[in-house]
Amino acid sequence: MCGIVGYIGQRSAEPLLLEGLRRLEYRGYDSAGMSTLDGGQLRTIKRVGKINEGLAPALAATPMPGATGICHTRWATHGPPSDANAHPHFDQSGRLALVHNGVIENYAALRQRLTKQGHVFRSDTDSEALAQLIGHYYDETPADGDARLVNAVRRALGEVIGTYGIAVIHQDHPQLLVGARRGSPLVLGVGKGENFLASDVNAIVAHTRDVVYLNDFDVAVITRDNFQISSLTAGAVSRQISRVEWTADAAEKGDFAHFMLKEIYEQPLAVQNALRGRVNHEESTSLFGGLNMTASQLRDVDRVIFCACGTAWHAGLVGEYLFEELARVPAEVEYASEFRYRNPPVDKGTLVFVISQSGETADTLAALRESQRKGHKTLAIVNAVGSTIAREADGGVYMHAGPEVGVAATKSYISQLTVLTLLALHMGRLRHLSAARGMEIIRELEAIPDKIQHVLKQNDHIRRIAGKYQRANDFLFLGRQFNYPIALEGALKLKEISYIHAEGYPSAEMKHGPIALISPEVPSVFICPRDAVYEKTFSNIEEIKARKGPIIAVATEGDTHIATKADDVIYVPPTVDYLYPFLTVVPLQLLAYHAAVLRGCDVDKPRNLAKSVTVE
Ligand code: M6R
Repeated sequence: MCGIVGYIGQRSAEPLLLEGLRRLEYRGYDSAGMSTLDGGQLRTIKRVGKINEGLAPALAATPMPGATGICHTRWATHGPPSDANAHPHFDQSGRLALVHNGVIENYAALRQRLTKQGHVFRSDTDSEALAQLIGHYYDETPADGDARLVNAVRRALGEVIGTYGIAVIHQDHPQLLVGARRGSPLVLGVGKGENFLASDVNAIVAHTRDVVYLNDFDVAVITRDNFQISSLTAGAVSRQISRVEWTADAAEKGDFAHFMLKEIYEQPLAVQNALRGRVNHEESTSLFGGLNMTASQLRDVDRVIFCACGTAWHAGLVGEYLFEELARVPAEVEYASEFRYRNPPVDKGTLVFVISQSGETADTLAALRESQRKGHKTLAIVNAVGSTIAREADGGVYMHAGPEVGVAATKSYISQLTVLTLLALHMGRLRHLSAARGMEIIRELEAIPDKIQHVLKQNDHIRRIAGKYQRANDFLFLGRQFNYPIALEGALKLKEISYIHAEGYPSAEMKHGPIALISPEVPSVFICPRDAVYEKTFSNIEEIKARKGPIIAVATEGDTHIATKADDVIYVPPTVDYLYPFLTVVPLQLLAYHAAVLRGCDVDKPRNLAKSVTVE
C-alpha cells in the first residue's frame, strides 16, 4: 500500500515524479504529494484525493522547480485521508521531507517522547513520527557534510519498530537522496547522470531498466552520479544490478478504456507466456527451472499446502482440486493471514507453496517466513520479478504475466491456474499419471488460449446482461467442484469493483442458508458447464427457479437444455472438467467489469482498495 518515487539528476524532477506516481496509483489513492529541492529551497504540494483530483491540478497551477524530489500516493492506515495526512511529512525544522510506505508500529511512543521534547506534530500519521525522529537525530549529530543526514536516518531507523520503504531529502543537502527499506518494497533505478527510487519498477522503467532491488535493512545513499548501499545491521554491502525485461509500454492502457479490460483481453497471451518453455512433449510432462528440488525430493512430497490471499487464494483452491485430481497428492489451501498465526502441524513431507501476483503481500510474505522458520522448504508462484517473496522463497515459478495494473486481479489469476496445472502435471508424472493422460492435459492446456479468445468475443452479449442486472443489490454465484472457486472469484470481482454485494457458494450449500435470500430481485450466477456434476448443478438451478430467482448461467456451447431454465446464458467452448475454470472465469470478469462501468465506478481504482496489500 502507498507508492513512493524519488529522483535525483539533471532534469526537472516534477514531471518525472508525477508520471512515476501515476504508475503507482494502483497502490493507493487517498491523497498524493510531492516535495522538490531547488538549490537551497524545499517546496511541497500535497492534496487529498486521487492524483488527477488534487495533486496534478495543484502542480499545474504552481509548478515546482528542482532536479531532486520525492513523492507519494497514499493508502490511509493511520489518520483519515486529508491534506495534512498526505505525504511528504517533515521534521520540526521543516527542512527535511520524508515519504513512507509501511507502518511504524511504535509511532505513539515516539510521538509522545518527541512531543515532550518540544516537537509539534502536524498530522495524525505514524510516518510523521519517523520524519521528526530523523530531524531530532539530525540536530544532535555534528555537521559532517552529507554524512550528517545519513547518520540521522540510520539512528532513527535503528529505533523504529515496523515496516518501511522511505525516501528522504533535506534542504541543506540538495545533492542527496536517501532511501531505506524494511518489509516494504523499494527499488533503486540506475540511470546516466540521474538515479531513482520507487516502490515498484513500473514507476521508473520508462527512464531506466537497470535496477537494484533493495533488501530489508538496506540504506541507499544516492547522488546524481553514484549510489552506495549499506546495511543497518552491517557495513557497506554490494547489490547486483538487474535488467528489467519489459518496457514501459507493457504498463500502458493502449486503446482500452481501463487496465482491467486490457488485462482481461491479455489472458490468452498470459496462458501462452506461462506455458512457454515449460512443456516437454516427448515425456508428456512439464519442466521447471527454479524449483530447486530434485525429482526424488518431489516424489517424497506427500502433502501440499498453498498459502495466499484474495484472488491468489482462489487460484490455490483450484490448485487443491488439480493436485488431488491429477497428481493424487493431498493438497489444501490456507489463507496466509490465518496460517501465519496458527500453529498447524506440518509434516516433513509437506511442501508449502505461496502464491502472490505482487510478491509483496504482507500476510503471504509472513506465511512464507513462518513456514521457512519451521524448517519447511517453501516455494512461491509469483508474477513480480525481484519482489520480496520471489527473493526469499527457496525456489519457485514466475508467472510471466507482465505488469498487472488494474486493482482487480484478472490475467494473474489465469497465469496462476496455468502454473498450478503444470505443477500438478509434473507431480502426477512423477507418480501414477500415464504418458497418455499427461499428453491429454498438455493438449487441452495448449488449446486454452484460443478458447479464451472465443469467450472474449461474447463481450457485447455480456455487457447487455450486466446492463439488465446492474441495479441489483445482491448476487449469488454458485458452482460445484472445479467451478466452486470460480463462484468465489466471480463474487469477489463483482463486489470489489461494482460494490454490489455478492456471495460465492458451492451450489449445493445454497440450500443450507443462502436460499433464504432468493427473490426476483436477487440474480444467481450458475457456473454449470457440461462436466461430471452437470446434472447436480442443474437441479440447483431448478431449486432457485422454483423460487423465482433470476438465473444467469455460464454453460458449455451446444447446451440448449440450460436455456430452458436460465434467463440468460453465456456459453464457453467445451474442455476437460479440470480446465473449465480457465474459461468460466472470463465471463464473470467481464460481467463485473461492465456492471462497474455501468454503475459509474472507478474500475481500476476501486474505493478503499489497493493492489498490493503490504500491511497485515
Ligand atoms: O499480490 P497478491 O496476489 O498477493 O494479492 C492478493 C490479493 O490482495 C489480491 O488477489 C486481491 O484479492 C485482488 N484485488 C482481487 O482482485
